[in-house]
Amino acid sequence: MPSADRNLHPVNLPANWHPASWRGFTALQLPRYDDADELAGVLQELRTLPPLVTSWEILALKQQLADAQEGRCFLLQGGDCAETFDACSSDVISNRLKVLLQMSLVLVHGLRKPVVRVGRFAGQYAKPRSADTETIDGVTVPSYRGDMVNAPEFNAAARRPDPRRMIKAHARSAMTMNFVRALIDGGFADLRHPEYWNLDWVGHSPLAEEYRQMVDSIGGAVRFMETLSGGSVRNLDRVDFYTSHEALLLPYEESLTRQVPRHWGWFNLSTHYPWIGMRTAAIDGAHVEYFRGIRNPIALKVGPSVTPDQLLRVVDVLNPEDEPGRLTLIHRMGAAQVAEKLPPLLNAMRRDGRRVLWVCDPMHGNTEGTANGYKTRRFANIGSELEQAFDLHAAAGTRLGGVHLELTGEDVTECLGGARGLTEVDLERAYRSTVDPRLNYEQALEVAMLIVRKQAQLTAAS
Ligand code: PEP
Ligand code: CO
Repeated sequence: MPSADRNLHPVNLPANWHPASWRGFTALQLPRYDDADELAGVLQELRTLPPLVTSWEILALKQQLADAQEGRCFLLQGGDCAETFDACSSDVISNRLKVLLQMSLVLVHGLRKPVVRVGRFAGQYAKPRSADTETIDGVTVPSYRGDMVNAPEFNAAARRPDPRRMIKAHARSAMTMNFVRALIDGGFADLRHPEYWNLDWVGHSPLAEEYRQMVDSIGGAVRFMETLSGGSVRNLDRVDFYTSHEALLLPYEESLTRQVPRHWGWFNLSTHYPWIGMRTAAIDGAHVEYFRGIRNPIALKVGPSVTPDQLLRVVDVLNPEDEPGRLTLIHRMGAAQVAEKLPPLLNAMRRDGRRVLWVCDPMHGNTEGTANGYKTRRFANIGSELEQAFDLHAAAGTRLGGVHLELTGEDVTECLGGARGLTEVDLERAYRSTVDPRLNYEQALEVAMLIVRKQAQLTAAS
């Protein structure tokens, strides 16, 4: 069937589904708004605002994710744990883009395959929390749930869920997208100019030499190809960048779920690639209900408590047609548990012949507290979980097709270790995350190098 027909005529529409059908299910992690009229007004306004992405882009990404499932490319997904309205600034956005571009350069060069780049940005403003309230010195207020819901300051007024924050989140997401698109269209991502992506650290980092050698080698290859072809090599001047966020705040997501003229079905047009967080992944919950009906490629976080049987059932609900590129499973087990918890899931999915993209999030299972009161992650645990994941997939006959990271282009000190050996005392210097600790740009690049080394080791052994 020509693809235009496939786009216009549904193969199988999801039964009994509507963008609001999740409202009939148990919805965890949603704020309680105290003014129903104010909420309704905001949602009505959101429904009239333009979308942030298009269905064409969404379907193009789905095709690339299908390729990643088959091992033809590798997924790099990364960004803040939680974006904040204050950090919607030129420097923060461009530095994050730079570090993702540098990482993808390392991966393209080392893995010898294209990289699908997806940011955790332009909408990553809503957070699940382990408790509904927070108590300090006998004072209890609602938990901070991300800038899209309330403010982080510890007082009742700041923590009141304010629906108008959804409008602001939409606007900040649009500004972020606009700037990312403009940078990329303007040639910022040109492979012939990796020096555009340099952050200050190049020159004094322990990783600088390795990175410089790689950039030189790519520069040499590009010049060689240009000499051979007698002109400039096409398609080096831009890369695709996609967006993702945890689609947690369902009233917001519903308002941006739209039908479009040239494609059948419903699209979440707030992002290309939404995911379901670990805390809202119940098969009979509102989030799974919402996700099953949209045509975007979607991802599901999979934690250590999920059984093979539970996983098979939720995969059936989310991808009943076993459509290529549709479903990504992001496992986040922790370095201590991955060897025990992951193989049964891999084996079950392989036995059942289910088509999914497996991605490792080595961040969320490795969070710990320090004696001086910080939430942190050790680089050694992050690296260990990733390396184990590659080995476990190889042993199970499945494929690790990507990585999901929390990182920033800023020089923060939130995760311990790495090439510079950050210690607990260093955390006091530049700890800026409002939620989870992120890799700084140097640690992020180190992860990319680690992936390349691990893959080379596996290839050599096979
Ligand atoms: C996150 O990705 O920020 C997050 C909360 O992850 P998880 O749902 O895996 O805990
Ligand atoms: Co997080």
